[in-house]
Amino acid sequence: MAGYLEKIEELAGQARQQIARAVSLEQLEQWRLNLLGRKGQVTAILHDLGQVSPGERPLVGKQANELKNEIGRLLEERRAALEKEQLERAAARSAIDVTLPGLRPWTGSIHPLNRTLSRVNEVLYSMGFSLAEGPEIEDEFHNFDALNTPADHPARDEHDTFFLEGGLLLRSHTSPVQIRHMQANPPPVRIIAPGRVFRRDTPDATHSPIFHQVEGLYVDENVTFGDLKYTLEQFALRLFGPDTTLRFRPSFFPFTEPSAEVDCSCIFCKRKGCRICKGSGWLEILGCGMVDPSVFEAVGYDPERWTGFAFGMGIDRICLLVHSIDDIRLFLESDTGFLSQF
Ligand code: PHE
Repeated sequence: MAGYLEKIEELAGQARQQIARAVSLEQLEQWRLNLLGRKGQVTAILHDLGQVSPGERPLVGKQANELKNEIGRLLEERRAALEKEQLERAAARSAIDVTLPGLRPWTGSIHPLNRTLSRVNEVLYSMGFSLAEGPEIEDEFHNFDALNTPADHPARDEHDTFFLEGGLLLRSHTSPVQIRHMQANPPPVRIIAPGRVFRRDTPDATHSPIFHQVEGLYVDENVTFGDLKYTLEQFALRLFGPDTTLRFRPSFFPFTEPSAEVDCSCIFCKRKGCRICKGSGWLEILGCGMVDPSVFEAVGYDPERWTGFAFGMGIDRICLLVHSIDDIRLFLESDTGFLSQF
């Protein structure tokens, strides 16, 4: 039956083309079902063999089986090729181009204020001071009255305090920690109190309503102004380097007597005079003095027996100077461009 052989021939040509052109595994599977599936065209021929005359049956059967085997092989080959292509496409999509410049990992840095604060604390710890802390929300007694600054005292106005409800306020300096510490501990005392303080200043390059101080308090028997000078001089030498000198100028604070403001030799020009020290050769860094006896009375220390000194320095200002930063507002702006420089 020539009809069968022709049909096989035709089917073979058709199948070879279809398989070769299959563009996806899904399409290939479709062709496989069409040809070799239960109702496939090749399957149908094999099925019909019984109707072929006995004389032709061996040949038709042989051809049909060969076609079936060839198609099976071609399908396998095409499947392997398509799978390989698919893998290669996926690999190309996720490929790493090793010639591209690398991405620098984002590392955090210590805030310059914290850096300065840690350094100041470290020096003072090494000199025998230990840490004391107090609340940022204070009352008038600790922030003013106990520090010899009664309600009618003009120094209160200078502090431009943020007042809260219920007689509370945001502490305008770290000196109230002196009071809290002495109320809770008998002398002798050797503490530093670092922390945030608040004043109603209009922000500009040198003023911020939030800034940072480190308070120092030393109380014992027979403490003199000489002890204060020596302590601060040693502190400055360790913080700013061995050629640092200090200058004490008479000043006034209600809670110290006598009081002084302390300048340190300009860290930039070493007293020759420069833009930073405005030609003076000196930079103001802190206020200090001998603890006023009325402060000892307020906390229940015997002012006849105990003497002491206190000092308070602005960390923001020192940090601005050390790093030549020209705007104090940068400290609170969380600008990563600025912060990542430290
Ligand atoms: N508390 C003072 C201020 O904020 C600084 C100071 C502290 C002065 C301790 C003397 C003694 O200006």
